[in-house]
Amino acid sequence: MNNLEENIVEKFGLEKINYDLLSRIDSSDILIKRKLLTYVRGSKELEEAINTKNFYVLTGVMPSFEKIHFGTFGVIKAVKFFQKSAKFSIVLVADVEAYLTRNIPYEKTKEIAYNIHIPTYLSLGLSEKTIFYFQSENKSLIKIATDVAKNITLNNFREVYGDISPERIYSSTFQIADILFPQLIRKIYPIIPVGIDQDPHLRLCRDYVRKTNSFDFLLPIGIYIKTIPSLSGEEKMSKSKPEDAIFLPEEENVLRKKIFSAFSGGGITIEEHRKKGANLDIDVCYRILEFVDESDKFYEMSEKYRKGEILSGEFKEYTFYVLQNFMREFREKLEYYRDFVKKGNIIEIHSIEELKEFIE
Ligand code: TRP
Repeated sequence: MNNLEENIVEKFGLEKINYDLLSRIDSSDILIKRKLLTYVRGSKELEEAINTKNFYVLTGVMPSFEKIHFGTFGVIKAVKFFQKSAKFSIVLVADVEAYLTRNIPYEKTKEIAYNIHIPTYLSLGLSEKTIFYFQSENKSLIKIATDVAKNITLNNFREVYGDISPERIYSSTFQIADILFPQLIRKIYPIIPVGIDQDPHLRLCRDYVRKTNSFDFLLPIGIYIKTIPSLSGEEKMSKSKPEDAIFLPEEENVLRKKIFSAFSGGGITIEEHRKKGANLDIDVCYRILEFVDESDKFYEMSEKYRKGEILSGEFKEYTFYVLQNFMREFREKLEYYRDFVKKGNIIEIHSIEELKEFIE
């Protein structure tokens, strides 16, 4: 457990993922086989959602940077997983939030989303039926966001976020509306895979659902995913340190350099490594491959590495080989999906009425 998780679990309680329950969606998915999901907010609701198959999966992306890195991989995989049984799935572009908290103009967000984020999400395996929208253009959010402002006090906001500003309050009312708005059609559970740093929004959203008299919504479910560490071994890969992240795609020579400089869980000396083997939990290459390498070779190589039968350099060579192939395939798909977006083939909505058309 890392620090952020520890804090949240201690202060606000979270429950472990019930893998038996999720196996019912697809027990062969690597997220399930390798236990790459960590916690859930709303385990009772998750059980109900899966038993009744009455749920949608939704997540949001804030394109504050022109590149996507491996840190985002887990969330996309999780959306893909729930998509297998969801009634429908939505990925929204948080352009209101990007403008308020990162000062990125709307046109810029749109350009980045069309060119990079949406094609990347589709290239990594999201269904072509995924529904997209931009916060600033979805007019059905307004009614809910307004009702959130009416029901949540400044103290509620402060409890959840600590440091509070008009920008953050406004973004947060939109985020809550994002999570809930499909229920303007009918009651259906929202499953929201996100980084655990988004848990405050889920808590606030659940508080709001319990409080409001204007709408009768089902409680949303937060699904949190194991992180991929930064190349120097910190908790989470992040765009604020580009030299410590692997981007999608990444140039082959840069990729090689980054992999070979990545923090390793191998022994300090060869002798020590042969004797004690590698600590896979803190090994950056292992933590990336866990999400990316679906082959049986992954188990064979990491077992050998764990036992000290192969050295960190050899494991890195293998990692490079896997990621090199991954990037080649990814680049091809990215090109395909850029074109797909340009031709207007994605499903993009602007209101609840349009959502209704696509799901019924
Ligand atoms: N706040 C999220 C981020 O920083 C983006 C986001 C906006 C979002 N609305 C959402 C995520 C709804 C999940 C659900 O990345």
